[in-house]
Formats: sequence, C-alpha cells, structure tokens
Amino acid sequence: MKTMLHIDTYLKSRSQLIEEHLTRLIPEKEVPYHTLFSAARYSLMGGGKRLRPILALATTETLGGDIDTALTAACALELIHTYSLIHDDLPCMDNDDFRRGKLTLHKVYPEGHAVLTGDFLLTHAFDLIANDTELTTDQRLQLIKTLSKHAGGNGMIAGQVLDIQSEGKQIDLERLRLIHRCKTGAMITASIEFGGILSNATELEMQILRRFGEEIGLAFQIVDDILDVTASKEKHGRLVPSDLTNHKVTYVTLLGLEESQVAAQTLFQSACEQLSALSVDPALLISLADVLVHRKI
Ligand code: IPE
Ligand code: IPE
Ligand code: MG
Ligand code: MG
Ligand code: MG
Repeated sequence: MKTMLHIDTYLKSRSQLIEEHLTRLIPEKEVPYHTLFSAARYSLMGGGKRLRPILALATTETLGGDIDTALTAACALELIHTYSLIHDDLPCMDNDDFRRGKLTLHKVYPEGHAVLTGDFLLTHAFDLIANDTELTTDQRLQLIKTLSKHAGGNGMIAGQVLDIQSEGKQIDLERLRLIHRCKTGAMITASIEFGGILSNATELEMQILRRFGEEIGLAFQIVDDILDVTASKEKHGRLVPSDLTNHKVTYVTLLGLEESQVAAQTLFQSACEQLSALSVDPALLISLADVLVHRKI
C-alpha cells in the first residue's frame, strides 16, 4: 500500500512535468498553417498516461542521471507515440472514431491533415533530440540510433504492417508475439534504453535494461488486448471493442482472458527478476512495471 501511494505521487509529478514541457515544445503558432500545431496539440495534450517518457525518466533517475537534462528526449518519445496513435486510428488502419474518450484526430480535422500531423510529430521528435544542447553529441547520436531502430521498419512500423496484414486471418501465438513485440514492445524498450543513454549506463546495464524493456513491453500489449475487451468504454470511449470489429487475433482470442492475464503476470515477474542484476536499487522500475501490467486503462 505504501509503495502504491508512493508510485501514484511519482506518476502524478512526472506526468505534470512532461505535460508542461510538451506544451512548451509544441506551441500554438501564428502562421498560415497554424492548424498543424493546433491539431498536434489536440492529440498530444489529449490525456495520455505518458508512460513512455515516465519510463525514460524513471530509468534515468534509477541510474543516477538528471531528469531535467533528460526531459526533452523523454518528450520526444511521447511525440512518436502520439504520431503512431494518430495513424493507428485512421480509416485505413484500425478505423477508430474515439481515443481516450475524445474524437480521433481525423474526425476533427480532415484525414489528410491527420496524416500530416502524425508526420510532423515524427519528424519533430528527431529534430528535438538532434538540437538538444543539454545532451552530449554522443548521447544525441545514441538516442537517434535507438529511436530510429525501435520506431522504424524492423520495430514499431514492422509491427503495424504485420498487424494490418493479419486482420481477418487466423495467426498463431508465435506470430502474434512478434507483432506485439514490434508494434508496442519496441517503443517501450526504446523508452527504457533512452534512460540508459541519458544516464550514461554501461553496456552491461544496457543489456539488462533492454531485456527488462522487451519483457515488460510484450506484457504491456497483452494487457492492451485485455483492456480492449474489458475496458473499451473507459479506455477509449468506444462502445464496441475495436479488435473485435476489425477481426484481429489477440491474446484474448487465442488464450482467453484468464490465460492472457497469467501470461502478462509471468512476463512481469521475469522482467523484474532481470533488474536484480543491476548494482542500483530497482524499486522504482519495479513499481512502474507493476503499474504497466496492472493498469485499468
Ligand atoms: C496505447 O498505448 C497504444 C499501444 C501502443 C498499446 P497507451 O495505453 O500507453 O496509450 P495512452 O497514451 O496512455 O493513451
Ligand atoms: C497500437 O496497437 C500500437 C501502435 C500504435 C504502434 P493497438 O491498435 O492495439 O492500440 P489501441 O488499442 O488502438 O490503443
Ligand atoms: Mg492497431
Ligand atoms: Mg488501434
Ligand atoms: Mg489495442
């Protein structure tokens, strides 16, 4: 109970820090194309949990790094995440009208505008890191390499391609695991690796963090599949679960609710065990992993 109270306070304070910084990073602009910035803010400031930047900051502080220095890079992860959601909701992908209880971007702005807003957030994320004078040149390069790897054609985008290709098809657990690792696990892993880079972690620490990220990332998407069935209304404001409408194979359709919960719990435990090899106290990361796997939305 004590830990839960502590982690709630932590999440609130970090998410406030991140939201304040995001509003500074994407200001409204008085230019002829000002709707681009309004649209970006509509999606970016739309009530997400901010788990990816929080994971980056928590990893940074666990390893003795400075979170003020890390803040812009951590926010770049949220820009990529937001772009991925804008595109994920488009009619040509999951075709969803609601996210976080609000209309999706293409329901508020023309569809082409929503595509371009996603493109802008993606591009701007790399711009922010490349120009972040709080960081060393080597840190900027490492962050750009990590982000392009995990968000790119063998990471998140690969997962999204496999995901839409698999719609309406019967795929097995091995294929589903690959999709989940890529479409969601990759960006969770990137977030934790960001913390390692921002705190100048050793190669050994990076390996431990990477394994932790991969396991917790897969668990995160298993829980997302569960929530699509059990909390579609609360999480998204959708009356009919999106995965059902889109005929997607998910952990729930393959294993059922109970076994999916067991799979997420097993990954959570194994992820936390990885952290015992670190020479620093992993309590904060364990509490965060607990939040990721036992979240209600
Ligand atoms: C939802 O991610 C999409 C996935 C990659 C599974 P989150 O559950 O982190 O979404 P927000 O940002 O908190 O709404
Ligand atoms: C989305 O997965 C993954 C990415 C956006 C990369 P989902 O399609 O399951 O996410 P939700 O359920 O729409 O949030
Ligand atoms: Mg999707
Ligand atoms: Mg979706
Ligand atoms: Mg989902």
